Amino acid sequence: MNKRYEELYSLSLRRGFIWPSAEIYGGLAGFYDYGPLGSMLKRNWENSWLNYFLGLGDNYFLIDSSNIMPHSSLKASGHVELFSDFLVKCKKCGESYKADDLLGEVTGTSGEGLKAEELDKKITEANVKCLKCGNGFNAATEFNMMFPMSIGSEGQDKGYLRPETAQGVYLNFKRGFEVARKKLPFGLAIVGRAYRNEISPRQGVYRMRELIQAELQIFFDPTKFDKTLDFENIANYPLRVQFHDDPQIKELRCEELIAKKELPKYYVYHMAMVQKYYLEQLQYPLERFRLLELGENERAFYNKIHYDIEVNLESLGGFKELGGIHYRTDYDLSRHQEGSKERMEVTFEGEKIIPHVLELSFGIDRNLWSLIDVFYEKTDRAVLRLPAVLAPFTAGVFPLVTKNGLDVKAKKLYVALRDYHNVFYDESGSIGRRYARMDEIGTPFCITVDFDSMKDDTVTIRERDSTLQKRVPIPKLESLLRELIIKKKPFTEL
Ligand code: GLY
Repeated sequence: MNKRYEELYSLSLRRGFIWPSAEIYGGLAGFYDYGPLGSMLKRNWENSWLNYFLGLGDNYFLIDSSNIMPHSSLKASGHVELFSDFLVKCKKCGESYKADDLLGEVTGTSGEGLKAEELDKKITEANVKCLKCGNGFNAATEFNMMFPMSIGSEGQDKGYLRPETAQGVYLNFKRGFEVARKKLPFGLAIVGRAYRNEISPRQGVYRMRELIQAELQIFFDPTKFDKTLDFENIANYPLRVQFHDDPQIKELRCEELIAKKELPKYYVYHMAMVQKYYLEQLQYPLERFRLLELGENERAFYNKIHYDIEVNLESLGGFKELGGIHYRTDYDLSRHQEGSKERMEVTFEGEKIIPHVLELSFGIDRNLWSLIDVFYEKTDRAVLRLPAVLAPFTAGVFPLVTKNGLDVKAKKLYVALRDYHNVFYDESGSIGRRYARMDEIGTPFCITVDFDSMKDDTVTIRERDSTLQKRVPIPKLESLLRELIIKKKPFTEL
């Protein structure tokens, strides 16, 4: 891991963003827990994601589903047969590696999408050896990444921990369609855990065995979906895309991309919505974002069109996948119709159809890590410039000193604000140190009760990014904070 990763990981441990799971027992590779700040950041990210993505349609809802799924459902979906990676094992010490990642790590060119024989050939040609003992490898074999389990006292039922939340939606499609009053498009989202028995996860928080996903499955009729979308509004919007056979990132207007790649309008519309989420809602810098096309061999088995959502992360050595935009056709519902013998075909506007699926899929753990990577800087001061809506605490509330009733007034203000905002009370150390502690965890505002507050019922409010301070009346503080968070009011106009 590089220096930037070490710096961010140390911040995470120290301040309580992310911690290794079961640490007191030596930990378990690929498993992490969230501390107090990480949990609040996660909750805010999830709320922001739900607000934005459920808002893309009138008929989009959140559901929740079981994490354990029957064998029959995942056999039907194709995961029992196809949800696998290639594994190579050292001939001498038995150390296991995900073959394509190992190639990427040693040669700089990932082996993603290659077949077993191609991986073996490349590993031999590049003289890749075991990173532990320096010996050669056995031939690559396929390894299914699902966690199997036996259910019941005799283990009579076989199941798996779900490998993607998407499957929970497909199994609930029929009931969801009823709730959506039998209209297309309609969408169901799940925010929850998924489980993948990754081979030797050695990329820290990037590759987890128990991961959290936010996935929206949009069910639609491909001949009618375009008409429901305001494409004109984004026709000239420039997308930052990279094609699978071209090393350059390009900026192409939505219309141009459609013409160049013959993509459906509805697909490109959602690429634009995803990019806008990162650049406009979350304020990621433009140059750190790209949508990466995956070639035919690189796509998951259920996808016909697949662009990864990627952000350049210094701590992880370059652009990394944070999610994907997947056109899954009618593959999933057709497979479940076959496997369950339940009809997934519906009648919409007089025609019978098995709806197609557009999936907007996001790895939450990776997204949270990316926020810390993109927004944390340590120059003359350490500051995490998180978008205010995501910050674990909206404001710190401090008395300048703990005498003459300043602390009593500050506590009272803190209690009043707690009804509306997640605020943090701190009276220990110098005021400078208290500001610094809040800057480091991304708190966008600090409110200080000083001697003037006792006379005129005003406080100072300090902005994290500019360190500017303004004086505002206490009765207006709660609504001002709200306006500042959603950027309705610039700080300079207070
Ligand atoms: N549901 C898509 C994925 O897990 O990548």
